[in-house]
Amino acid sequence: MPARGCETTEPGNRRDLTCHDIEAPPGLAAGPILYARGADALEARLGVVAVTRNGAAAPVLHADGSDPVALRLRARLFGHCVWGADFALPAGPDAGYAIDGVRYLVRTDLTGDLAIGFVSCNGQENGDEERSHEDRDVMWRRLAADHRREPLALLLHGGDQLYADEAANAHPETRRWAALPLAEKPGVAWTPDMAEAVRGYFFRRYLALMRQPATAELCARTPSMMIWDDHDIFDGWGSHPPDLQESPVALGLFEAAREMFLLFQLGADPADLPATCRDRSGGNFSQDAAFPGFAVLLPDLRSERRPDRVMGEAGWQAFEAGLAAAPDGDRRIVVSSVPALGPRLSLVEALLDFYPGQQQYEDDLRDQWQSRGHRAEWKRFLSAMEGEMLRHGGPVTVVSGEIHLATRGEMRLPNGSRLHQLVASGITHPKPPAAMAIGLGLLSRLGHSPLKGRPIRLKRLPGQAMIYTADRNYLVLRRRAGEWSGAWELEESGRTPELGI
Ligand SMILES: [Fe+2]
Repeated sequence: MPARGCETTEPGNRRDLTCHDIEAPPGLAAGPILYARGADALEARLGVVAVTRNGAAAPVLHADGSDPVALRLRARLFGHCVWGADFALPAGPDAGYAIDGVRYLVRTDLTGDLAIGFVSCNGQENGDEERSHEDRDVMWRRLAADHRREPLALLLHGGDQLYADEAANAHPETRRWAALPLAEKPGVAWTPDMAEAVRGYFFRRYLALMRQPATAELCARTPSMMIWDDHDIFDGWGSHPPDLQESPVALGLFEAAREMFLLFQLGADPADLPATCRDRSGGNFSQDAAFPGFAVLLPDLRSERRPDRVMGEAGWQAFEAGLAAAPDGDRRIVVSSVPALGPRLSLVEALLDFYPGQQQYEDDLRDQWQSRGHRAEWKRFLSAMEGEMLRHGGPVTVVSGEIHLATRGEMRLPNGSRLHQLVASGITHPKPPAAMAIGLGLLSRLGHSPLKGRPIRLKRLPGQAMIYTADRNYLVLRRRAGEWSGAWELEESGRTPELGI
C-alpha cells in the first residue's frame, strides 16, 4: 500500500505509484528488483526478483501486454522464498508492470534521448550496518530524486554492491581463520555449520540493502545490470597468495558470495543463467546486452582472478564476443570494476619490492589492470576496445568504480579519437583522506603508454581543480540527439558540467 503523502493515479483499476515514499507490495519482504536483459525498438527485455517470507503465496507479475503469471520459486533461504521471472515490456510511453497489484512505471523506449546511472562501492569495509542511513544513503536519495525528475533508462552497478568483508565474523571458525597467519589458513576445514552461518550473513545483508528505501525505489523502476568486485566476496578476492586464496574457508566464502550474487545481482535462476551471460557454465559471469544504438558490457574480473590472471579464457571469449556482437557504429559502454586507465601503479609495485612485509598493499596493487602481473591481459583489454573503435567506428566508454574517488582518463588513438575512462566511486563508501587524492594525482602526471603510441592521460573532472576528486559520487551518462556525455554528481559540489564523450 502507498504510504501517506504519495501521489497515486489510478488508470483503470491499476495503481500507479509516482512517489518514493512507498512500501513494497504487502506480501513482499524485499523487492521487486528489476534487471535489464537488452532492448530494441519494440520491447525491453527484463528480469524481476522478489522475496517473501516462507509460506506466502507466489507474487503475481502482471506485465503490460501479457497475462498475469506467478513468479517462480528460485530459492528457499532462512525463512524466506526468492522468486523471479524474465519477461518483456512493449517499448512506449507509460509502460510498466505490477507485482501483486502494485504497478511500477518503467522507461522502455530507449531509441531516443536517455540517461543512464552508474554507481559503485555501496558500503564500507567495517561497520557498514551500524551507519545511520540518514548519512550513508545521501547519494542514493539524490539519485532517486534524479529519477523522479527524469526516469533513468538503466542503472549500472560497477562493483562492491555490498561490502561483505565481515562475513568472516559470521562463525567462530571463520573468525579464527581470518586471524591466523597465512601458512596456517589452509588447515581450517569448511563445515556445513560455517556454510550456513556465512550464507545467512550474505542473505541478511542483501535483504537489508534491497530494502533501503532509495535503493528499493530505484531498483523497482530502473532496470539494473550489475557486476561484482572484490568486496562482494571479500577484500582482494583473487589477488591473495595461494595459502589464503585456495584455503577451504576462502573457497567456502566465495561459494556463498557466488550463490547470492547469482540470485540478487544477476537476478538469475541458478539453473538457467540469463541470456546476457555468454559463459553458460557460470564459471565467469561476464555479461553483455544490446540496446538501441548502444551496448553494455560487464566483464567479470573476479570469478577467474588469480595473482597471475585477471580472467580465464571463458571470460575473455565472453568479453570479446560481446564487443564484436554490437552493430558497427553503436556505442559500447564497458563496465570494468577496476579502472582500465589509471596512473602508473606498476612503479609503486616496484617500490614495494624494497619494503618487504607490505603484503596488504601488494594485494591491492595486484587487483589493478596496471599491475606488472597483468600487463599482457591489460594490453589485450585495451587492444580489444581500441580495435572496435578503429575497425568498426563504435566509440567505447569505460566506466569504473573501486577507488573511492572520482576521476577520468583518456587514451588517444592513432586516428585522433579517444577511449574515455570515467571513474565514479563510491555511492556510499566514505571518501579517503585528501592525501590519497593528492598522491595519486602526482603519480598520474607521469603518464604511460601500455599500447605503443597510444598515450594515457588522467584528467580533471569538468570544473574540478584536481585530477582526483575526493567526494562521494555517482555518474550520469546521457544521450541527446545521438551525442553522448557524462556528468558526475558530487556530494559536496553538486553536478559537474557535462563532458562530451
Ligand atoms: Fe570499493
